[in-house]
Amino acid sequence: MLEGHKEIEVPADVPVWDVDPYDPAVLADPLDYYAELRSKGPFAYIPKYSILTCGRYEETKEVFSDWERFVSSRGVGIQDFNLEEPWRPLSIVLEVDPPEHTRTRAVIERALSPRSVANQKETYSTAADKLIDGLLEKGTFEAMEELAETYPTTVFPEAVGLRETDRQRLVDYGEMVFNALGPNNELRRNAMAKGPEVVPWIMERCQREQLTLDGFGSTIYAASDTGEITEEEAGLLVRSLLSAGVDTTVTALGSAIWCLANNPDQFDLLKAKPDKARWAFEETMRFTSPVHSFYRTANVVTEVSGIKIAEGTKILCVLAAANRDENHWPEPDKFDIDRRPSQHLALGVGVHACVGQNVARAEGYAVLMSIAKKVESIELAGETVWRPNNSIRSLAHLPITFRGK
Ligand code: HEM
Repeated sequence: MLEGHKEIEVPADVPVWDVDPYDPAVLADPLDYYAELRSKGPFAYIPKYSILTCGRYEETKEVFSDWERFVSSRGVGIQDFNLEEPWRPLSIVLEVDPPEHTRTRAVIERALSPRSVANQKETYSTAADKLIDGLLEKGTFEAMEELAETYPTTVFPEAVGLRETDRQRLVDYGEMVFNALGPNNELRRNAMAKGPEVVPWIMERCQREQLTLDGFGSTIYAASDTGEITEEEAGLLVRSLLSAGVDTTVTALGSAIWCLANNPDQFDLLKAKPDKARWAFEETMRFTSPVHSFYRTANVVTEVSGIKIAEGTKILCVLAAANRDENHWPEPDKFDIDRRPSQHLALGVGVHACVGQNVARAEGYAVLMSIAKKVESIELAGETVWRPNNSIRSLAHLPITFRGK
């Protein structure tokens, strides 16, 4: 076993590539790695971890969406749950396959339905306006902490219905969950070290009595009253919201500001038509891919694009590379808010496609709409620093100056 999974032979016609996708330098500045990955062919074999990796749009989409051949139940990280115990009770939505997945997904989908998110839109836009007004008063600020982290950790706990919240613990838990999907490197070890402090607090927040009666959480628990799921399963589904709904949106919002600061012509387009906020957020997701990669495990002997894949093969699907594939996207390295990139893979694809996408889009729309209406210029006010994470690509520091209209 290597990093919790079976070692595999190099499949015929697959190049061996001596790269470490988890090298902090690669994680912090991955564009060359993405381009080289695509140039290798449909797959490359990485000996350091004995995994296959793919980053062309077609194959990444095929592997990521075909749950019958490429399962999630053996883990969406480097470990194979058939061979090694997961670090926490596994997610009953992300880390299961149909038919189990269909049952739990229906419950969480109902809680996060377009209608239930639409009911919160006013709260989201009021919170965005208040935050942007405050930042305009400051002028220069640290956009990761004061905007990207502050906004979701203000609106999301309330939307879920948490009676008690703590920004730092929510952010730390998200960072831990996403680092945990990688190998046992320093990033994973440092993140996991926060576990004893953060995990019990998170588990406590997921209990029914800790939730208000009008949030996503209470809709999930209502399904336990009718026997659709058990009360214990309801708690685990609320945990899924807290695992997947914070670090992702923090990352996407920070990256959206970074994209607009670096592309003033695109910000001009947004200011001229604030309704483009939806597409500006969508293009941010394509261009920056907050979740850069997740795994699938081949559950059968199979073939993709003529390449034979052995049972038990771990495949690193680099969504971020697929979102820049020149054979799928015209001028992929251009940030273009008129592109309308609805087929990007940043939110996944197939049965596991992000169930929180309505929430993510509502948050992104509210913040970018408010900025488009109130802010005249966005400028970088210092050095930007990326924060390496085994599965997320986020900025750590983004000093920004806003000037008002
Ligand atoms: C921009 C923000 C977000 C991004 C980039 C993102 C990305 C993703 C991706 C790539 C997947 C697919 C995982 C897979 O197929 O293995 C996913 C699934 C999921 N996301 Fe999101 N997500 C975001 C926001 C959210 C939010 C706000 C929530 C909660 C409200 C959420 C909850 C989930 C859950 C529970 C799943 C598992 C769904 C399933 O397995 O059926 N996500 N997300």
